[in-house]
Amino acid sequence: MQSILSIKNVSKTYASGFQALKSIDLEIRRGEIFALLGPNGAGKTTLIGIVCGIVKASSGTVTVDGHDNVRDYRGAREMIGLVPQELHTDSFETVWATCTFSRGLFGKPANPAFVEKVLKDVSLWDKKDSKIMTLSGGMKRRVLIAKALAHEPDILFLDEPTAGVDVELRKDMWEVVRALRAKGVTIILTTHYIEEAELMADRVGVINKGELILVEDKAELMRKLGKKQMTFELQQKLDAVPEALAPYKLALAADGRALTYTYEAQGEHRGVTRLVEELLRQNIRLKDIATTQSSLEDIFVDLVRKDG
Ligand SMILES: Nc1ncnc2c1ncn2[C@@H]1O[C@H](COP(=O)(O)OP(=O)(O)OP(=O)(O)O)[C@@H](O)[C@H]1O
Ligand SMILES: [Mg+2]
Repeated sequence: MQSILSIKNVSKTYASGFQALKSIDLEIRRGEIFALLGPNGAGKTTLIGIVCGIVKASSGTVTVDGHDNVRDYRGAREMIGLVPQELHTDSFETVWATCTFSRGLFGKPANPAFVEKVLKDVSLWDKKDSKIMTLSGGMKRRVLIAKALAHEPDILFLDEPTAGVDVELRKDMWEVVRALRAKGVTIILTTHYIEEAELMADRVGVINKGELILVEDKAELMRKLGKKQMTFELQQKLDAVPEALAPYKLALAADGRALTYTYEAQGEHRGVTRLVEELLRQNIRLKDIATTQSSLEDIFVDLVRKDG
């Protein structure tokens, strides 16, 4: 698939001397939802800032659908919508004025019907005449989203779009994101709610200490790095794991009434069959069996920990 955004060898050292990004290479595919994950201070907002032309890169290039984002800043910026992480919305302006102004700023002709639809999509229509400073935090975030959508961007950056918003808005947000994707908009989001990335993303990138340590299809990532656990609930209490079962590295529950086996989700499953046979041979009677699979969150925590 053709990439719509090309980030090549981008580094950033802030004036303080702190290196926030170390030669980042990343290609974003047209129409995908890409989730950028990483701990606090990893460099996510810095990278988004560079792509959007808010932060100056120390080196490297960013090309947005063929427009170099420095030499052809306007061409690149026109394509991008940004929902920033920080709320700078202590404005006397009304919701309506802010959104229509944002459209004009990006050289799009006035289209009140479209702005109305956007405001309805984010449940702000009844607040259209309110001054932004009079809105609650979550409503202000909705304004930022509406503002970014008002100029119909081809690429939408959502930097922690659901931080501090209620469950209702979070659901609305994901509806909006899905609808945008269906229209062909490319979406790049950061989130600390990893289950959101698990739910929404086509691909996942993990950034840690300014380095992109992984970029992978979400499904592939979960297949490759995912772990499964099988828990055997026992009819009788065990004091210790029998010697014959040692190779399976089973964990015995504190009450001695359950054994847990952990294995690679991708691996061959003959191990499970052999284990069950061995349990029967050992005369261990089972009451129930349950399996669980690791989440993207488990994988993420593992990756970042390994990266030290
Ligand atoms: N203007 C600045 N001057 C100096 N250092 C900065 C500046 N902005 C960010 N940093 C530093 O760069 C690093 C990356 O910050 P950034 O905001 O990109 O992280 P992040 O991944 O978005 O984190 P979070 O998850 O908390 O939003 C941090 O160590 C931060 O302190
Ligand atoms: Mg950030």
